Amino acid sequence: MKILFLFLATSCTTLLNAQLYYNPLAIPAAISGNNFTLTVADSSHHFFGANNTATYGVNGSYLGPTLVVNKDDSVNIAVVNNLTQTTTMHWHGLHIPATMDGGPHNVINAGTTWQVGFGIRNAASTCWYHPHLHMNTGTQVYMGLAGMIIVKDTVEAALNLPRTYGTDDIPVVLQDRTFNANGDLIVDGLADSMVVNGTMHAYLDAPAQVVRLRVLNGSNVRSYNLGFSDNRTFYVIASDGGLLSQPVPVTRLKIASGERFEILLDLTNDQGNNFVMMSYASAFANNEPGGGGMPNGASVLNATNFGIMQINVVAPTGNPVTTIPSSLINVTPWNIANVNTLRYKTLDGNGMFATMANFTINFLAFDMMVINDTIPLNNLEVWQFTNNTNIAHPIHIHDVPFYILSRNGNQPPAYEGGLKDVFYILPNEVVQVIMKFEDFANDTMPYMYHCHNLVHEDNGMMAQFIVTDSFTGIEDATENNFSFYPNPTASSVQLNFQDSNNEPYTIELLDAGGRIMQSSLVNPEGTAFSYTIDLADRPAGIYFLKVSGTNTSRTLKIIKE
Ligand code: C2O
Ligand code: CU
Ligand code: CU
Repeated sequence: MKILFLFLATSCTTLLNAQLYYNPLAIPAAISGNNFTLTVADSSHHFFGANNTATYGVNGSYLGPTLVVNKDDSVNIAVVNNLTQTTTMHWHGLHIPATMDGGPHNVINAGTTWQVGFGIRNAASTCWYHPHLHMNTGTQVYMGLAGMIIVKDTVEAALNLPRTYGTDDIPVVLQDRTFNANGDLIVDGLADSMVVNGTMHAYLDAPAQVVRLRVLNGSNVRSYNLGFSDNRTFYVIASDGGLLSQPVPVTRLKIASGERFEILLDLTNDQGNNFVMMSYASAFANNEPGGGGMPNGASVLNATNFGIMQINVVAPTGNPVTTIPSSLINVTPWNIANVNTLRYKTLDGNGMFATMANFTINFLAFDMMVINDTIPLNNLEVWQFTNNTNIAHPIHIHDVPFYILSRNGNQPPAYEGGLKDVFYILPNEVVQVIMKFEDFANDTMPYMYHCHNLVHEDNGMMAQFIVTDSFTGIEDATENNFSFYPNPTASSVQLNFQDSNNEPYTIELLDAGGRIMQSSLVNPEGTAFSYTIDLADRPAGIYFLKVSGTNTSRTLKIIKE
């Protein structure tokens, strides 16, 4: 039996709120310095009533401390595994070597300690940590293993932003959880009750000034459509990878599993008021996690508007921040003209009315032993994702943050204009991201990319790439007598190769935005083959030639002068 807690907001909420939001929001301890010890263990946590709930915790009973680090610092972290099972610890968002990334290859056996040391290269941002054990990430996160990482830098420090942790700079870890009658957790996809920083029925006493919320969606599956019960405007100042160029005013903000947004609330004139942070999930389409129409994930929180926590506005602090800054940082996305490689990723499967188990990337389920992409060190790449499934997915790429170039060919909204490491993709949507793989070459230890819906991830919607400095790929044009020239060209390019596989090939010409300009099917029937691509009438710029056989696929970059 499940116990349901419905946090429905109505128009006359004051009395109701007093009953619904009666636990002060827990603020995880913040720890800083260069040396950290995170001890992961079985624990028990008080969520509600007379019960204690069996959990896993990091240095505590549920979730873990917030790690506060500075750009350019070197940090050492010991992860002590006192669980009775294997785990891993992934530093989600940090740009660090694959050997330290804490993915499924970096296992920490029960009773052992994993010691990592790395430099902090990220800009000021809100990242997080959580286990990433093969097929078992969802359960371990659900039981309480996760924590926030705050990266600081001098650029952020020079801005007039709230940054007193726990006072005007508040961690907000959103999770949904299902409990049984004994108060124990039932591992669930879309769960029934909201917990924020491990607190049910949470309220936050916030000072009457500008307050910063670092919102992390730490839920396994659920997306939230954030807003406030008084419909106030709030200001998005940062996404996963750091600050935006300027605050973006919104009244609603979708946040999918794994994503972070930092938002500012202007409470300067609100002392004595209270209002509720909400998820306006009735606005979700049926095929979004948290919308309706999910027979495998029915939950009282689906497709309904529900409260997350109440905010009670109290007296301001000394020296409060009282204005929303007009600008933040210089955001300088890479120039698409310098892209080396365009990769195509399809999201496939139709699990919404079947099972969650059959979502794939490029039709492949995750295999620990297969490297799906080999990336030359220093490559600037565009990855184009096409969602051929009937459900939305939050897609996460490890190692380097990216910019979202386009959604269905259009510029993304302003609040997605900064660096990110997770993007949400709706059914039938095409999303292009651009990123540069500038360091940490390692021919054997891969990084992951995957759906951050942890049910999908654990069921194989994940792949892996290596970054290598010994790449002898097709750009060298020697493999299988493969050549194409001249490049750059003013008129045409000739492609020559030996068809050793005796298979038909699709040859496609794409523009820099990934749109197919021309496509032909050829069958060289095992012979040496040449093909001329005429670019004479096309505008100068970057093009990609994609040559795909049944077993091979190559993308070549052509410069038209
Ligand atoms: Cu937050 Cu690969 O994970
Ligand atoms: Cu990650
Ligand atoms: Cu997914």
